[in-house]
Amino acid sequence: MDKFVIRGGKPLFGELEVSGAKNAAVAIIPAAILVDGVCRIENIPMVSDVIIQMEILRELGAGVRVLNPTTIEIDSRGLRSWTAVSDLNRKMRASYYLIGAFLGRFGQAEVAMPGGCNFGGVRPIDQHMKGFEALGAKMDIRNGIVYAQTQGGLTGSNVYLDVASVGATINIMLAACLSQGQTVIENAAKEPHIVDLANFLNSMGADIMGAGTDMIKIRGVSTLAGGTYSIIPDQIEAGTYLAAVAATGGSVVVKNVIPKHLDCITVKLAELGAEIEEQGDSIRITRQGPIRKIQVKTLPYPGFPTDMQPQLAAVLCMAEGTSVITEGVWENRFRYADELRRMGAHIQVDGKVAVVEGVPKLTGAPVRASDLRAGAALVIAGLAAEGVTEIEGIGYIQRGYENLVEKLRRMGADIQQITEEELPPIAKAN
Ligand code: EPU
Repeated sequence: MDKFVIRGGKPLFGELEVSGAKNAAVAIIPAAILVDGVCRIENIPMVSDVIIQMEILRELGAGVRVLNPTTIEIDSRGLRSWTAVSDLNRKMRASYYLIGAFLGRFGQAEVAMPGGCNFGGVRPIDQHMKGFEALGAKMDIRNGIVYAQTQGGLTGSNVYLDVASVGATINIMLAACLSQGQTVIENAAKEPHIVDLANFLNSMGADIMGAGTDMIKIRGVSTLAGGTYSIIPDQIEAGTYLAAVAATGGSVVVKNVIPKHLDCITVKLAELGAEIEEQGDSIRITRQGPIRKIQVKTLPYPGFPTDMQPQLAAVLCMAEGTSVITEGVWENRFRYADELRRMGAHIQVDGKVAVVEGVPKLTGAPVRASDLRAGAALVIAGLAAEGVTEIEGIGYIQRGYENLVEKLRRMGADIQQITEEELPPIAKAN
């Protein structure tokens, strides 16, 4: 029941270090199941989704050692089971990467259907199933468990994805790298973490070409050996802090980023009035003048990321004029709009489109995060708003943002995490 309490209205100044990419880490950790050796993985973000993913591997019998706050070692050689049906698996989306990893290693899998952020719509896995079937697995879903079986392993094949799904692309890559023959994924997703997973697997001895384009070729190899790999910086974490500065005003250097991965975000922040300056592996953002209205549509990479859509909406709440946001990836990802309205925002949502009529200022209010990025949007709104914002549901935010409070405080934000015991008695009534 912890909350964030933010006293907003202060511009942000200074610098911050971006952590490793959560969505790469939650793919690379299960990928270590395929490796016949010790994988040392650096630049790990210690967020709750990653901690759960590490715990799942430990439960399965893998050796998982935390060497320091950003480096872990995984040794899956002793792992003998392809069954992962514990409650932990239902807690996060990326647990479904175990299906691809188990299929690749054992030729079979039994994995609980994944949980994860719920944006209010369905999160289908038909493209994953289609991919595994193309590689020769017999797939079935019964009582909330995905069953996959083969006669002696997978055989490479061509898979055309009907939607460029990040999860399906990753899962098929995992399944295919130890299969017989060649697999080609067409209409593959191109997100930076897909390239990162391919680089990790290649550094362990896999033969994957074309990651980052819409056609990925995977030639099966007989074994992968251990090694050391460093995860890329988190594009969305960096984007979130850039958006926070765009909202509050001020000037911050965001360090340890790959600016190319951020182009799709910084171009929009520049359009709404922020000054963006690339400095090697850092980006300085400055926003002094008014926030301008813009139009934006989320699309698969290199389009504007859906995982930045709520945070951008929070900024646009204070723009001069009316902005239009179209969600092009998920069915429904505007559940945060009700919460922003409590803070004085004028947002109308109709299906996949949100119309945001800018107001001169937001005002603090008690609000609740409904998912990870919705939570990030509320933090941004709270930082910019006049008065006190209390955010509940921060467990969602902690799935994906490492040391958020410390990072923001170092830039001058007045944000605290408080537990219920620290609340005045009146707050405990009812
Ligand atoms: N889709 C299908 N069938 C499938 C899979 C996906 O129709 O079998 C559809 C989805 O319904 C959606 C679209 O394809 O409309 C894209 O889904 P995708 O599979 O790409 O999403 P995902 O792999 O489940 C990852 C990220 C999400 C991010 C999306 C889109 C991870 C662990 N999650 O999800 O990240 O929104 O890609 O970029 O990598 C987040 O970090 O906050 C987050 C939700």
